[in-house]
Amino acid sequence: MTKLLIIAIDGPAGSGKSTTAKALARRLAYNYLDTGALYRAMAWKMLMEEIDLNRASDVEQCCESLEIRLSLLGKATEVFVDGADVTPFLRRPEVTKAASVISALPCVRKKLLSIQRTIGEKGGIVAEGRDIGTVVFPGAEFKFFLDADISVRGNRRYQDLESAGVSSDPETTTKTVSARDLKDSSRLCAPLKRADDATLIDSTLLSAEEVVELMFQQIAPAIAPQ
Ligand code: DC
Repeated sequence: MTKLLIIAIDGPAGSGKSTTAKALARRLAYNYLDTGALYRAMAWKMLMEEIDLNRASDVEQCCESLEIRLSLLGKATEVFVDGADVTPFLRRPEVTKAASVISALPCVRKKLLSIQRTIGEKGGIVAEGRDIGTVVFPGAEFKFFLDADISVRGNRRYQDLESAGVSSDPETTTKTVSARDLKDSSRLCAPLKRADDATLIDSTLLSAEEVVELMFQQIAPAIAPQ
């Protein structure tokens, strides 16, 4: 039987984490966990409840009352908040912005950390995010850090938005991506950074298939039946 490992993929927005993590999970017959979807779901709930992010007690209460369930099979990580499927709302620009803000809050990270660890405890998972290899699963058997030039990342994000029917332009999208990276990597709590033992892959000139192949070549010997 194939070994059930934990594969961690971190990197900034537009580096290709989701596409490659999904494809790698399919190839390994593992579950795919999009941890950004958890932050987005928490942000969605806070927006819906019109929580003032400057009021620590309201933020904490919202975190504590979050009842979240994930479905990891299929194309996307489906997220249910208080029983309702919120997946269709998670890529909206206002949710994206709020997710970056609330992800700097320690109570949010604490709540979502335990959820992520519970999901991954049996292994057999490809998890992607910002702090998977450093904080969530520091003992993951394989860790990758994906990066790409900012112009390429901005353009990829622009294409994503276009195909989701959100109107934007490449220049504004690139600026937004760049600002979000700065926020994600400069926050005090679990900032975006490469784990010392993560393999760096620059996807600027690589297709998603080539990135998955590089990852798979590294993992294959460890999952081969003995
Ligand atoms: O990967 P994404 O764009 O869906 O992530 C949305 C936000 O959530 C991102 O700005 C940073 C935050 N995030 C995080 O802080 N840690 C993670 N493991 C995943 C996402």
